[in-house]
Amino acid sequence: MWLYLVALVGLWTLLRLIRERQVVSHLQDKHVFITGCDSGFGNLLARQLDRRGMRVLAACLTEKGAEELRNKTSDRLETVILDVTKTESIVAATQWVKERVGNRGLWGLVNNAGIAIPSGPNEWLNKEDFAKILDVNLLGVIEVTLSMLPLVRKARGRVVNVSSILGRVCFTGGGYGISKYGVEAFSDSLRRELSYFGVKVAIIEPGFFRTAVSSSDTHLCSAKILWDRASSEVKEAYGEKFLASHLTSLKSLDRKCKEDLSLVTDCMEHALTSCHPRTRYSAGWEAKLFFIPMSYLPTCLADAILYGASVKPDKAL
Ligand SMILES: NC(=O)c1ccc[n+]([C@@H]2O[C@H](COP(=O)([O-])OP(=O)(O)OC[C@H]3O[C@@H](n4cnc5c(N)ncnc54)[C@H](OP(=O)(O)O)[C@@H]3O)[C@@H](O)[C@H]2O)c1
Repeated sequence: MWLYLVALVGLWTLLRLIRERQVVSHLQDKHVFITGCDSGFGNLLARQLDRRGMRVLAACLTEKGAEELRNKTSDRLETVILDVTKTESIVAATQWVKERVGNRGLWGLVNNAGIAIPSGPNEWLNKEDFAKILDVNLLGVIEVTLSMLPLVRKARGRVVNVSSILGRVCFTGGGYGISKYGVEAFSDSLRRELSYFGVKVAIIEPGFFRTAVSSSDTHLCSAKILWDRASSEVKEAYGEKFLASHLTSLKSLDRKCKEDLSLVTDCMEHALTSCHPRTRYSAGWEAKLFFIPMSYLPTCLADAILYGASVKPDKAL
């Protein structure tokens, strides 16, 4: 009985591996549009797909970022300036993409651009702090997608949305986790709707990687600003001891982050080039072995684990 079961699981794994290794044809004719290519995952993915011979249309927030990327890549790769929070910038970028892809349509759209500050305990934040992150990480993803969809539908292509393990288990306050839960929900509805048109939607859920988004310095600086402007009531409830532990945990953020960004960009590349992409990709051992399994636990168990590991306010009961 056990032998049959093991053989069945082995066979299923083998078939899955073979299926996932099938690559789409004519990659060199396919256009991929990536947001947030100045640095981090977007930058590496643009270079990786360029090396693979695909036609990369890289959107950068700054001209400096675009120029640096062009200097490192082939003449095939083209750049455009895009701020995903500005409708006129999205409209202009869509027209630019349309002119390049012509009747072939857009094979891949990668919604990668994102920010992570201001983040901290929810009570330290105001509505504008939440809105700032949601504007880039969620509304930006939605508006870019809606604008590019006719082109993606034409190519029966792929949409790849970058979420996070914080879109599965949220243990920090602020707009970041909310935005990533939103990206998961948006991608879910999109996947079902677009399946009728042959378009595939994949979600990338990275763990912790060393990029500008996860930089200790940036998070420390932001936390200090939030604390300085917090009300005396909030300061009294949380206390100096909490602040010190909070800042210490932010200082160790860089150490906790992995340097090998290709663990994430390889998932993105697979989602764009495999005949049978996955619905979800998790990158990093902590995502695969800790946070994703935790997302399936009963809430009381997950809360108990996170409570044990968290820094407590000075006035905690
Ligand atoms: N690093 C991690 O541990 C981690 C984990 C899970 C998920 N993620 C997600 O991965 C994605 C990429 O982040 P990353 O880690 O590679 O960090 P990153 O290096 O900071 O990349 C983010 C990119 O987005 C750009 N950007 C910021 N605001 C923008 C706007 N309004 N319009 C267009 N582009 C904008 C940034 O441009 P500038 O460089 O010019 O500011 C940068 O190029 C994000 O969605 C992030 O949430 C990261």
